[in-house]
Amino acid sequence: MTGIDTLLRESLGLAVGSVGPRVIAAAVTARMAATGCDTEAGYLLRLRVDPAERGQLTEAVVVPETWFFRYPESFTQLACLAHSRRAALTPTTPFRVLCVPCSTGEEPYSVALTLHRAGLDGLFRVEAVDVSLKAVAATRAATYPTTAFREAGPVPGRDAFTPLPGGRYAVPAAVASAVRVRVGNLAAPGFLAGEQPFDAIFCRNLFIYLTDEARRAAAARFHHLLAPGGRLFSGHAEPLGMIDARFKIDGPPQAFMFRAADAPPALAAPPESPPAATPPPRVAAPQPAAPVTPAASTPPGDALSLVRTRLDAGRAADAVEALTAHLGDAPTPHGYTLLGVAHSMLGRSADAERAFTQALYLDPGHYDALVQLLALAQGRGDAAGAANFRRRADKAHALDAAERNGGCR
Ligand SMILES: C[S@@+](CC[C@H](N)C(=O)[O-])C[C@H]1O[C@@H](n2cnc3c(N)ncnc32)[C@H](O)[C@@H]1O
Repeated sequence: MTGIDTLLRESLGLAVGSVGPRVIAAAVTARMAATGCDTEAGYLLRLRVDPAERGQLTEAVVVPETWFFRYPESFTQLACLAHSRRAALTPTTPFRVLCVPCSTGEEPYSVALTLHRAGLDGLFRVEAVDVSLKAVAATRAATYPTTAFREAGPVPGRDAFTPLPGGRYAVPAAVASAVRVRVGNLAAPGFLAGEQPFDAIFCRNLFIYLTDEARRAAAARFHHLLAPGGRLFSGHAEPLGMIDARFKIDGPPQAFMFRAADAPPALAAPPESPPAATPPPRVAAPQPAAPVTPAASTPPGDALSLVRTRLDAGRAADAVEALTAHLGDAPTPHGYTLLGVAHSMLGRSADAERAFTQALYLDPGHYDALVQLLALAQGRGDAAGAANFRRRADKAHALDAAERNGGCR
């Protein structure tokens, strides 16, 4: 491990292997060139004395990948949790949500939009925090390209945003005003010390990049920051219960939701009106250029979860290689769908279509594969094909929803 690796581990909690040594090496080379440092030792010295340069290197090594309503089931559960507390909420004692890391803002605004649609305006606050100055600036700007909308399931799509000239979309003011954005480093000692507890904490797709020590420290901090009966939402490959036994998985597997072990497991009964994150089934029209990463239905830590982690980090070629090896031994519809997504990300639509079709061969009602084929049909102007896949996807979604026993549990 180089001195720079050690510095990144100490300052960010970053497990250098998780982003890949080549990414770090490329970032260091680029920053050495930008700062005119000839040797790594000289650049390390500069990093130690210059916080602005540490910030620049941080920007170069973090992975900001995110999108609206990533893991839709988490937002359904969030709406249920907020409804269960509604009677106790006032403008001065609102439902408090922490999003760290917030990246470019899609996640905290998904939270705020969920609670806005649940009728809780004025009764909730979202704190959005990220270590990246660029990410925080993008969150504050609150305007997004179409690629930020990747979920085709029953979640609000672009039509819930304000279209801007140039093809971007703005977060509605009533939603944006409920979100406070700030720079913060989860690995820093005393992170959010002195904060009031939060009813919900979103910490998704960060633990995968942290050292074991940093994960344990972060979990302990969240345990301290979580209000009694609160819930913590993690990413699909982040088994919080294995990091800190004081957390227990709770709710449907695809919500990746945890409660403190000493809190009661069940959320409140379903609200009188369904939460806004579960509107009537519909299939959005995803952009072919922005492939949907299907919700993981596999247990954390298995081969497909690892592949999904690579996809989430934009490593599509690695994912294709791993999947090609894996599917030979264990062909599954979910695996073929991930393969199709990886091909789509690499711009190989014919290979993508073959993979999605193979997924349907194994499971004719596979929702994610149907939505992807719908997007591909739309992309090539095949209206009849698109209508056929839309009908089948709607049917698959209705069956899934019935099996899931509706939103809250
Ligand atoms: C993959 S994004 C996750 C965004 C969002 N939570 C999601 O799941 O879509 C990872 C983010 O973690 C941020 N990050 C990395 N290390 C951090 C740290 N120590 N404290 C706060 N944020 C950090 C990065 O800047 C990046 O925006």
